[in-house]
Amino acid sequence: MSVINHGKIERNVTLLLVLSLLVVSIGGIVEIAPLFWMQNTIEKVEGVRPYTPLELMGRNIYVREGCYGCHSQMIRPFRDEVERYGHYSLAAESMYDHPFQWGSKRTGPDLARVGGRYSDEWHVQHMKDPRAVVPESIMPPYAFLADRDLDLRRIAEHLKANRTVGVPYTPAQIDNAAADLAAQADPEADVDGFRQRYAKAQVRDFDGDPQRLTEMDAMVAYLQMLGTLVDLDGYVAADNER
Ligand code: HEC
Repeated sequence: MSVINHGKIERNVTLLLVLSLLVVSIGGIVEIAPLFWMQNTIEKVEGVRPYTPLELMGRNIYVREGCYGCHSQMIRPFRDEVERYGHYSLAAESMYDHPFQWGSKRTGPDLARVGGRYSDEWHVQHMKDPRAVVPESIMPPYAFLADRDLDLRRIAEHLKANRTVGVPYTPAQIDNAAADLAAQADPEADVDGFRQRYAKAQVRDFDGDPQRLTEMDAMVAYLQMLGTLVDLDGYVAADNER
């Protein structure tokens, strides 16, 4: 029995190509399409919120300076990582990251849960001169962050741009972006509205210089919130409950 004219397919390049594409796309659709209908590709986790304007600026500087070249922000669910860095990262914890900072290179440690691990003073010292606090460090210094005033002019646009790609910033958050940014780094400011807009936000002067709002304020505010939004003691993965 001749196998359904196989010879014809093998001798006709165009036909072979068309049929191969057909077979490959069926495989692709079967694997990929369900992801568009599954509700729980990213499990919703309580506590995860969009970045405050100050944290977002810190994050922008983190990306600008290429910190991801040496630092990852994703703790994998392996024992050695969990013991060193804390609870493994949840997908939801980076759901508002555009672009994500998971990274693929760890010259320095993972930073996904560095928030709260050190004091603000430690971070400022470490950013200015890493070897002052960790003598064997090979991290480059970023002292200039403390000298540069934070550029506040386009902060509302930064929030709007994030909204365009799916971060649910509310109109109130966008309208108040500049004021919220200044308020978070000013211990004297009236922060009731700000706190309502951003749960668990930390308010203080982060860089040790209350007179100025610098890039160091933004960087430290960002580092100090990393991995702190979700209450992991109370967290049980949905998979375990089923
Ligand atoms: C050339 C590689 C390199 C670059 C670039 C780099 N780091 Fe580091 N970083 C390190 C190394 C190595 C360490 C571990 C030694 C130390 O603590 O200084 C470290 C440590 C740290 C720590 C302490 C982490 C911990 O858990 O102890 C923080 C926070 C940090 N870096 C932030 C940053 C930020 C923010 C940037 C970008 C502005 C940056 N790093 C850029 C290499 C780098």
